[in-house]
Amino acid sequence: MTTYGNKKLNIVITAGGTREYIDTVRFISNASSGRMGYAIAAAAVKAGHKVTLITAPTALKPPKGAQVISVITSDDMLKAVKKNFNKCDCLIMAAAVSDYKPAAASKTKIKKQNAVLTLRLKPTTDILAWAGRNKRKGQRLVGFALEDRDLFTNAERKLKRKNLDMIIANTPAAIGTEKSTLHIKTRDKDWMQLKDVSKTLSARRIMQMIAGQ
Ligand code: CTP
Repeated sequence: MTTYGNKKLNIVITAGGTREYIDTVRFISNASSGRMGYAIAAAAVKAGHKVTLITAPTALKPPKGAQVISVITSDDMLKAVKKNFNKCDCLIMAAAVSDYKPAAASKTKIKKQNAVLTLRLKPTTDILAWAGRNKRKGQRLVGFALEDRDLFTNAERKLKRKNLDMIIANTPAAIGTEKSTLHIKTRDKDWMQLKDVSKTLSARRIMQMIAGQ
């Protein structure tokens, strides 16, 4: 990956798990705590970069100094990323974006009935793949891959398919924990491992790798 030296960058980071509404009060989501994305945002602010944190709902306090854009659904997140993509040097998609949303959300609260209820889902837009198709020269894209099998093969496939510069892979064991093991791959280097380290420390390492320090 081309490095930036000590340049201060404009970095957009997404975090948290998006919510896809089924009716007026219920939604589909996932167990993402948002910790990794928030830790990267904090590390980026600390390193002096300009940080925009696009966040789905979490229980966390955003780092001081980051511009925060709160979103709920994957469509909201897509809109916010599109709006902020042009001006950024680097997009880090740490959010757990829902891959599916209800085919049609009910405009009223669904009433309980004594029968099987089938939910029909349709795919959401892959935000990272959109960014991969639209990135300009010099812009960096970082994606995450959560894999429960064939971690390296699957993550490397994502790196190429989504036109990324870096992929950070982990297993479901990392969800919600403070310490985790991460596997990081850039286009031109072999896999490297951050073993059982705190998200604060791995965030700092990731930022150093991105900024080339
Ligand atoms: N992502 C995204 N938009 C989506 C889904 C995922 O931008 N609609 C991003 C995530 O933020 C993450 C990366 O893509 O950085 C990994 O996505 P993942 O869901 O693991 O990969 P998929 O391509 O959906 O592949 P699979 O479901 O087969 O694992």
